[in-house]
Amino acid sequence: MLIRHATLPDGRTGIDVLVQGGRIAALGPNLPAPAGIETIDAAGQLLSPPFVDAHFHMDATLSYGLPRVNASGTLLEGIALWGELKPQLTQDALVERALQYCDWAVARGLLAIRSHVDVCDDRLLAVEALLHVREKVKDYLDLQLVAFPQDGVLRSPTALANLKRALDLGVDVVGGIPHFERTMADGAESVRILCELAAGRGLRVDMHCDESDDPLSRHVETLAFHTQRLGLQGRVTGSHLTSMHSMDNYYVSKLIPLLAEARLHAVANPLINITLQGRHDSYPKRRGMTRVPELMAAGIEVAFGHDCVMDPWYSLGGGDMLEVAAMGLHVAQMTSQAQMRACFDAVTVNPARILGLAGYGLEPGANADFVLLQAGDPVEAIRLRATRLLVVRRGRVIARAPAAAATLALPGRPARVDWRLQR
Ligand code: FE2
Repeated sequence: MLIRHATLPDGRTGIDVLVQGGRIAALGPNLPAPAGIETIDAAGQLLSPPFVDAHFHMDATLSYGLPRVNASGTLLEGIALWGELKPQLTQDALVERALQYCDWAVARGLLAIRSHVDVCDDRLLAVEALLHVREKVKDYLDLQLVAFPQDGVLRSPTALANLKRALDLGVDVVGGIPHFERTMADGAESVRILCELAAGRGLRVDMHCDESDDPLSRHVETLAFHTQRLGLQGRVTGSHLTSMHSMDNYYVSKLIPLLAEARLHAVANPLINITLQGRHDSYPKRRGMTRVPELMAAGIEVAFGHDCVMDPWYSLGGGDMLEVAAMGLHVAQMTSQAQMRACFDAVTVNPARILGLAGYGLEPGANADFVLLQAGDPVEAIRLRATRLLVVRRGRVIARAPAAAATLALPGRPARVDWRLQR
């Protein structure tokens, strides 16, 4: 396959991409076409590496309304609701919903997902279901699983044993939820236990951390401390970190350098936290997203995650990482050109580094995985939630969609409209 005349996210235009043996063999202007090769004209549109979601819950996805909806809209009611649903789950239904979500993801050019999977069910039903799904989708989607003790690794009596069993079964990453433990001290202790477990097994860590409006929630500080102490730098992620939104500025001025020193990664989940947080506020209502531009400015790897799609915590969504980027951009007021491009990176290259994906990126030798978007650049892609014209995995087209357009019937106006800026 030879892609002609693509624009890349870094602004290079007129780029050809030659694919051979599932990898990018060459990339540059005016590449010679080997005889008999399939040629696709990108016509100046944006060719991006695939979208990556650094934070998702595939065991809960598409369960909206089961057994009822979240009336208060809070995180805590969502956790309680998930607890009501868990005994009713079946492996077949979990697999079916996860596979359906993976179809949606692929159609939207989302080809790598880190999903948390709840281990606080002694049957480990969801773990077994998602391990099965990971295997089933591996040719077209990288699914990385996090052993997530939803009910608290100390608060739930069998959670730690279950979490270890899940890792033994092949779950990839150690999770946690220190802000849901019974006390702040237990939360800190859970971080220590889980980081030591990960260090002992040579695994990465990704914890739900300080997902509250409590300005005094301090678990990310503890996470950075144990990351440093155990030599886990660059392998640990703090997810959500919403309390940082509400923290005192002086304390944050001390905290962020500590996170940078530990090379901690951060994942914000804008769609979810703009709806879950601030529910106890009257007015003004806090936005409840962590301090994304400040973390980025400190050199911390920051990604935006989708977190939830139609589950006990969130009633909308559809695997569109451009929607996630757009919400993150708005909530963080990241409106300069450079910041908008950084929001695109936060759903592509940044999460790829956080997940440690091998062979990711548009360069010779990398996997031939990419998405052709109906947009001229990353900012336009976010603005338009651009159509994924082609989705390619290892050099094979695995999804395609017709260009978005509308037909007009207006006197003196063009018959066809699309929403790209005409220059
Ligand atoms: Fe989450």
